[in-house]
This record gives sequence, structure tokens and C-alpha cells, in this order.
Amino acid sequence: MEYHPPLGSRDTLRLDFNENTLACSPKVCEVLARISTGELTRYPERQPVEAIVASHLGLAADQLALTNGVDEAIHVLFEAFLEAGDELLLPVPTYTMYEVYSSATDARVVPVQAADDLQFPFDRLFASITPQTKVIAIANPNSPSGSVATRDQLIEIARRAPQAVMLVDEAYFHFHGETVIDLVGTVPNLIVARTFSKAYGLAGLRLGLLAAPVELMRWIRRVLSPYSVNSLALACLPPALEDTAYLDWYVNEVLAARAEFEAALDGAGIRRWPSRANFILVEIGPQHAEFVRLMRAAGVLVRDRSSDPGCDGRVRITIGTREQMRHAVVALNIALTALKSKESLHV
Ligand SMILES: Cc1ncc(COP(=O)(O)O)c(C=O)c1O
Repeated sequence: MEYHPPLGSRDTLRLDFNENTLACSPKVCEVLARISTGELTRYPERQPVEAIVASHLGLAADQLALTNGVDEAIHVLFEAFLEAGDELLLPVPTYTMYEVYSSATDARVVPVQAADDLQFPFDRLFASITPQTKVIAIANPNSPSGSVATRDQLIEIARRAPQAVMLVDEAYFHFHGETVIDLVGTVPNLIVARTFSKAYGLAGLRLGLLAAPVELMRWIRRVLSPYSVNSLALACLPPALEDTAYLDWYVNEVLAARAEFEAALDGAGIRRWPSRANFILVEIGPQHAEFVRLMRAAGVLVRDRSSDPGCDGRVRITIGTREQMRHAVVALNIALTALKSKESLHV
């Protein structure tokens, strides 16, 4: 399986990748402006920054590895724990890269389809665990649905599969507010991933992390490239972490924008799935591709998820600031009106 990022100009309002739609903390920009040549000539030293991040998260330094985005974290984890004959258990629909990276291993993907409500398919997932299950990957909150698994559900799954590692990908943690990272080291097969690409606004720097018990971390470090996190990213991490005021502001802005946008969708009669993240999945129906095209023409990029399992006719829209989402509502109304007039022409 290959990943094909959508092509074309993204010089519009980009509500298609679930990034921070505004900016990172200004403190990060200050640090970037002062980067010394020494920091560029030397190979990056990730350990001191790993220690800072670990202490910020209440973890021991040897329980944490920084990665080149969560994508590298997923890649490394699958390399470390999946072999021929193993099974990767995946609730679907979910983040595409799990399947992409598993295809580089000889393991078999076992998809567990969510029902039409797209809630976390706990019972089906639980029943699908076999002795061959070696990795269970759960995005929490999940993309593209925005649904979540509870802490109790995650603990039960980890207990049911002691022969497997359970990755809980908390890329969208800040918009949800619930985590299991405090259980790392207590639940022996739990590994948690976090990214700096979403709420922190650092997708271009490629920064993620894995938090894992020391015994599992040893296997992960065997596969992890020592210099995959570059010096600029490492320099930017401490100020990004310290500026909690900026992070809180951005998250609260997105949550307020999400509530306004939900009301606008409801007003327009568009079905949506409840989301605990910075995006919403909506039902457009058979005209999904035309809808995405019309939104683009109106200056807003959104993501067609129709090819995801169980998502035919559905489109995912990232939530930005209130001002941006008001612009998105204008585009939405233009697109919906154009679709309706096309429909009536067909009658
Ligand atoms: C669930 C999930 N995990 C990980 C990522 C990728 O994170 P990163 O930018 O850190 O590679 C995404 C990005 O869309 C995501 O949705």
C-alpha cells in the first residue's frame, strides 16, 4: 500500500490535514531566529531534549524517544514488533499510515470495522485478538471520525493481549484532554505516541515522541535512527513546551470554533459525527468529490475520506480559528447551494 498526498496548490485555507491552521508559539520563532552555526554543524543531540520532554510528561528519560513525527514512530514500532505471521489489529476507519507502514513488514493487517456511528468498536476489537496479534494500533481520538476509546476500554484491551504491544496514538490529545500516558510503565504493553504537528503547530519541523516501558524502549531504540530528529526541531521543542499559555489559547480557540461550526452544520442539515479532535467528519453523499472541488474553488481545502472503509460520501474538515471557520461556513454555503442547483437540474 502506498500513500499519495493530495496534489495541488495549498495556498488557500487548509482544512485538509488537521494541522494547526494559524502559527506555532512566537517563543519558538524567537529561538529559530537565534540558531547558531554550531547548532547546524554538529550532529543533533536528542538525549538532553528527551530528558526535558520526559520530565514535562512525568516520565523517566529512558521511557521516552523523540521521533521524526509520529509517522516515524509508527514506522519504527512496526519494524521493531511485527514479523511474518504476526497480526496488526486496527480498528477502521483510522489513520492511513498504520496500513502504509505495516505493508513494509510481513505482518497481516486485521481490520476491525466500526459501525455506522463510527464509535470505537470495542467489542469487535476485543473479540478479534488472537495469539498472533502482536501490535494493536489505536488513534485516540481517532481520525477521520473524531471518536474516542475510554481509558477503561484501553486498559482492558491491553490486558487481553499481553503478547502484543498496544500503541495509543494521542496525536489529537490536546483537543480531547484525556490521556493514558500516565499508565506507561504500569501497563507493561502500553506505548503512547504524541505529536507536535497538531496543537503545537510544528508539522513542518517533524517532531513526535514515543513513551514506552524501558524493556520495550530497548527494542525501539535498536530500530530508531540516531539523528532522525534534527537540531532545529530539538532547539524549538523546549520553548514550545514552556509556552503553555499559547497552547491553551490555541486549543480553546479551536474548541470554540468547533462548537460554532457544528451549529452551522446542524443548521444546514448536514450529518456529522461527534468529534473530540480538531476536525469533523461530515456526510455529503454521492456528490462528495464535487463538494471538495467546490470548496476548493471557494478557497477552502477539505479532505475527501470516501475511500476510507465505511466512509463513502464523507468528507473531513479541519477546525481552525473562529474567524477561519466563519470563512469556511461561507464556502460551505456556496458549495451546498451549487450542489443543490445541480441536483435540481438533474430532476
Ligand atoms: C492519528 C494520527 N497520528 C499521527 C499523525 C501524524 O503525525 P506526525 O505529523 O507527527 O507524523 C496524524 C496526522 O494526520 C494522525 O492523524
